[in-house]
Amino acid sequence: MSDSSFPPRTASYEADPEQVGRVLLLYSGGLDTSVMLRWIQERYEADVVTLTVNLGQPGEDYAVIEGKARQIGAVECHIVDAREEFAAEYLVPAIKANALYGGGYPLFTALGRPLIAKLAVEYARRCGCDTIAHGCTGKGNDQVRIEATIATLAPELKVIAPVRSWAMGRDEEVAYAREHGIPVKGGSESAPYSIDDNLWGRSSEGRWIEDLDEAPQEDVFQLVTPPRKAPDEPAQIELSFERGLPVALDGTRLGLVELIERVGELGARHGVGIIDHIEDRIVGLKVRDIYEAPAAAIILPAHHELEQLVCTIHQNQFKPDVDRQWGYLVYAGLWWEPLRTDLDAYIDAVNAQVTGTIGLELYKGTARVTTRSSPNALYDRSLASFAHSGGLFAQTAAPGFIELWSLQSRMAWQLRNR
Ligand code: ARG
Repeated sequence: MSDSSFPPRTASYEADPEQVGRVLLLYSGGLDTSVMLRWIQERYEADVVTLTVNLGQPGEDYAVIEGKARQIGAVECHIVDAREEFAAEYLVPAIKANALYGGGYPLFTALGRPLIAKLAVEYARRCGCDTIAHGCTGKGNDQVRIEATIATLAPELKVIAPVRSWAMGRDEEVAYAREHGIPVKGGSESAPYSIDDNLWGRSSEGRWIEDLDEAPQEDVFQLVTPPRKAPDEPAQIELSFERGLPVALDGTRLGLVELIERVGELGARHGVGIIDHIEDRIVGLKVRDIYEAPAAAIILPAHHELEQLVCTIHQNQFKPDVDRQWGYLVYAGLWWEPLRTDLDAYIDAVNAQVTGTIGLELYKGTARVTTRSSPNALYDRSLASFAHSGGLFAQTAAPGFIELWSLQSRMAWQLRNR
């Protein structure tokens, strides 16, 4: 590690080294933030308070994370279970907005960051910290989402992001960790994927994923069963929604977190939710991500199907534009932007009708909608049916409709093809 002076500040919210006295570190327990926990104490001569946020990432042992933080010298360690808030305040709006970025990414990381940063602000204030530290790099989206949130909600707090400037690669970090008695999982030879996960999905970056001509290697899939290894028997499930909110699985009402977890387990077993995605990052880079998002890959299409059934053709034409804008704002780190809440008002108004049940078949990597029912469906079997003639729908009136409907197009055709 070099002992060069700190890099010059380029933004008002960046901390001057002499302003840093007590730091709230967003701590995952991984290598970067563990090295950082020690490095901040050393470089800034500051106390460090850690905050670890549970957003439903599977297989995390929070007692172990807390023990590690204390061992590395944290003066206070906080673990927050934010699963309910994440589901209710972040995932539900995303479901109502059919939120996908770039046509495929269900935004789980992008949805989690504003909540994590909001909690960092709350704990920094409560614990008397002047600065918040995080482990994001200078190339990604997450630094934007976290720092934009902090600068918006807490103009009095400063930020440091050591990974952007400390010029340590993985090998140097492992060496620093060994030197300072910080436990390291694996070895420097086995560089891991860069993982981020929560209730709504899991992303992997790095290693072969950066080679666009490499097909996915199976060791990346730690959540979803590769489709060809999924059961030969399909599963049928039913998801019920009330006003856009998922409320029941197979007729059993469940709390949101439990419902998402159970749907995710079913999808994972059947190979559903693998997304191999090239993405335009906010900072201008294109990047490839491998996503595993089994719950989102079932709940989003079910919601969309129900919405299509209860909305008019005009709403169905218009809402995707609103949804896309919503997803872009969230991806781009502008969760607190007023336009997002403006769009939510429209999205909620539409979702007031989105009540009913969608049946899906899960089979070797696909979730296919098979049944639909809703008290608000704009569907009348007797009007739509081939088997019935007459009634309110006068087929004999159709030619008059067609004549007027095609009027302008016919006129233009005649004029331009004379
Ligand atoms: N590309 C996604 C996003 O920007 C996921 C990033 C997750 N970070 C990671 N280290 N894998 O939201």
